[in-house]
Amino acid sequence: MDNIRTIKGGVNLQGIIRVPGDKSISHRSLIIGSIAEGETSIEGFLYSEDPLSTADCLRKLGVNIPTIINGEPFSIKGVGIKGIKEPKEILNCGNSGTTMRLLMGLLAGQEGKSFILTGDDSLNERPMARVGKPLSLMGGTFFGRENGRKAPITIVGEKLRGCVVGTPVASAQVKSAILLAGLNASGTTSVIEPASSRDHTERMLKAFGADVNIRGELGRNIVINPVDHLTGQRILIPGDISSAAFWMIAGSIIPNSNILIKNVGLNPTRTGILKIMDIMGCNYEILDKSIIAGEPIGSINVKTSNNLKPFKIEGDILPKLIDEIPILTVAACFCGGISEIKDAKELRVKETDRLKVMARQLKKFGAKIIEKEDGLIITGDSKFNSAEVDSETDHRVSMSLAVASLLAKGSSKISRANASNVSYPTFWDDLEKLIK
Ligand code: S3P
Repeated sequence: MDNIRTIKGGVNLQGIIRVPGDKSISHRSLIIGSIAEGETSIEGFLYSEDPLSTADCLRKLGVNIPTIINGEPFSIKGVGIKGIKEPKEILNCGNSGTTMRLLMGLLAGQEGKSFILTGDDSLNERPMARVGKPLSLMGGTFFGRENGRKAPITIVGEKLRGCVVGTPVASAQVKSAILLAGLNASGTTSVIEPASSRDHTERMLKAFGADVNIRGELGRNIVINPVDHLTGQRILIPGDISSAAFWMIAGSIIPNSNILIKNVGLNPTRTGILKIMDIMGCNYEILDKSIIAGEPIGSINVKTSNNLKPFKIEGDILPKLIDEIPILTVAACFCGGISEIKDAKELRVKETDRLKVMARQLKKFGAKIIEKEDGLIITGDSKFNSAEVDSETDHRVSMSLAVASLLAKGSSKISRANASNVSYPTFWDDLEKLIK
């Protein structure tokens, strides 16, 4: 397979596209549908490596998930909260942190059954104690490399008890793991996060009939009580704003661009990028706003803006744009003045160390970036030269470098470009369609 992409700068982007389904909601539709009773139908599922890893693991846990065909709706018949089977094989989560962490929460309370989770080289280096530790407070038992901090992880299913857990990081994966464990624990489980992270799990659990309540300042306290069963639902998955983000930034900066991105999820826990685009002075409009399956959606029309202003990202907004930092780093290179990204240490434990990797790769185009322990300082007004860059196996880096290449003079080459298959397999086709 062609894994090096050549991208020519100096083009314009124009046209209408639909980005693929939301990755976070796709994972959750499979997991929550699997433990519901009755049928869950799923439409708009993201047919990409990460959610397909979740489907594969759930099949090994005894759930009858049909072969998923790209673009076609499908249904799964749930096995109930206690109906998960002990698998004969190791569960391979591939590159997907969401798969591994949410399954740790789901499986910790499956009494008398044991499970082994592993992943690719990147995932097996990512921190898992952030999930294992709070679940251990509930009675969960985990073993793993480096004293349980890294996968492969063994889970010994136990009877869990609800408790109050304060998480040190604002992570939807950690919060969701605890909530899934709380579904099958005795008593009440209460999670308090330092800043609110994406709330797709809470929304979906509620829709399936779980007893979930959001409390506290800015909804940072989520309380769940166990229920006997969840009821299968119809799930319509909107497009992923984290995939739309590449076009939102490309359309704002590349001259003579006008892109209409249809059917984008606009859940307020995900729209931090729009706030930054407001500060930059981007020219965009949100059209056709509606709510589908409990999630706000709309279309985003973005046009080129001149004289973009620099921005600062820090504090509570981080979880609301956590996956957009790589593309916002590209954006900062084209804003007049100095932009700053702070409080972003979490970026160092994503699919790659995204602070280091984005600084290293963008410097090859001539970007002026200083790497700090918890962020980046970027001097805008860059004139990008063509470069030979590398995704370093990270999907969001690959697509951010594609946008950077469009902004460079001449032809650039991206190696390991197909890392994009993790979340946006049709990215390169959409790019082809938009180039004018
Ligand atoms: C996700 C949560 C975020 C995000 C990831 C998907 C989820 O990770 O970066 O791409 O689906 O819950 P963290 O929970 O580690 O912040």
